[in-house]
Amino acid sequence: MSEILDMKENINPEKMMVAANYIKEGKLVIFPTETVYGIGANGLDECAVKSIFVAKGRAQDNPLILHISDIEMIDDIACDLTEIQRRLIDIFFPGPLTIILKRKKCVPDVVTGGLDTVGIRMPSNKIANSLIKYAGVPIAAPSANISGKPSGTNIEDIKKELGDKVSCIIDGGNTDIGLESTVITVIDNKVKILRPGKITIENFKEYGFEVELDKNIFSSIKPGEKVLSPGMKYKHYAPSKECILIYSDNNDKFIKKAQAIEKGKNVLVVCNHNNLKNFKNTMDMGSSLEEISHNIFHILRQVDKTDYELIVIEGVKKEGLGIAIMNRLIRACSHNYIEL
Ligand code: TXA
Ligand code: MG
Repeated sequence: MSEILDMKENINPEKMMVAANYIKEGKLVIFPTETVYGIGANGLDECAVKSIFVAKGRAQDNPLILHISDIEMIDDIACDLTEIQRRLIDIFFPGPLTIILKRKKCVPDVVTGGLDTVGIRMPSNKIANSLIKYAGVPIAAPSANISGKPSGTNIEDIKKELGDKVSCIIDGGNTDIGLESTVITVIDNKVKILRPGKITIENFKEYGFEVELDKNIFSSIKPGEKVLSPGMKYKHYAPSKECILIYSDNNDKFIKKAQAIEKGKNVLVVCNHNNLKNFKNTMDMGSSLEEISHNIFHILRQVDKTDYELIVIEGVKKEGLGIAIMNRLIRACSHNYIEL
């Protein structure tokens, strides 16, 4: 089992040095960010990065994000930044945003999955920032989960899944946002959202950027289809139970449909707090989009521990943060989705 470093209350410099030394030695460290936990290694050490893929069982062609602690680190790993890219960084870093930039040669191929670009993110979480500073290198880190499973947002879930595969885990409590960063690329001076997150279309528009969602945000990828972000191709966030996602603008329609499915079957309904009273067996998602975002990955893990035959999940409106929530839920339900 790995060493657990408790930093829930405060950042302890000695403990942080222990974690940073593991990174410097090419070992794996799980650490919190404001979005989800990451499983990190020295992003410039090919061997260390390879071990992340082994620990997660991740496809080799699915590139990793490099996490930085200071804007100045960008020019060590990326080049030829446009004015728009620089402005996006100025405005949104640090925070839950990953920007795809042209890579420098020093970034190992294993990080980028052989692409000529690299995803860069500067977390606002203080523990993450401090770990990167102490380690003195960009940290390559995908979400802390076995590939295909919901991202790790809770230390107990993570310990069970990856505890014996890393040198240490920094416990920073449950992550705040609960969904991974918004991933963007800039094409023809336009922001293209490859993975929706807490930073929304509206946030980019507020600053005058032209912005669009990639066409594959809600759709399933056909075998052989070309995608801008390799992660889109893979199965994600999926409980092993059969799940069905239902959404309607009209709450009564949702209730009727879910109640009809409930009849005659052993069903669990994962729904908005305000709808709990309408069903027999329920799990509470929370009521606001922020609460649902915070809770959803933990809930997707919890449903697998139950004995129900079928899980009905209530969707949310595809607006603002709701776009990110629905992007994850549609995938979690393997596109088993009804809109009424
Ligand atoms: O919030 C987050 O982004 C978390 C925390 C730990 O920072 N990290 C995370 O990493 O979610 P991961 O590896 O689970 O997801 C990264 C996504 C993948 O879908 C990957 O395909 C995409 O970003 N990505 C990374 N580098 C890319 C690149 N150069 N071009 C296109 N997509 C890229
Ligand atoms: Mg992931």
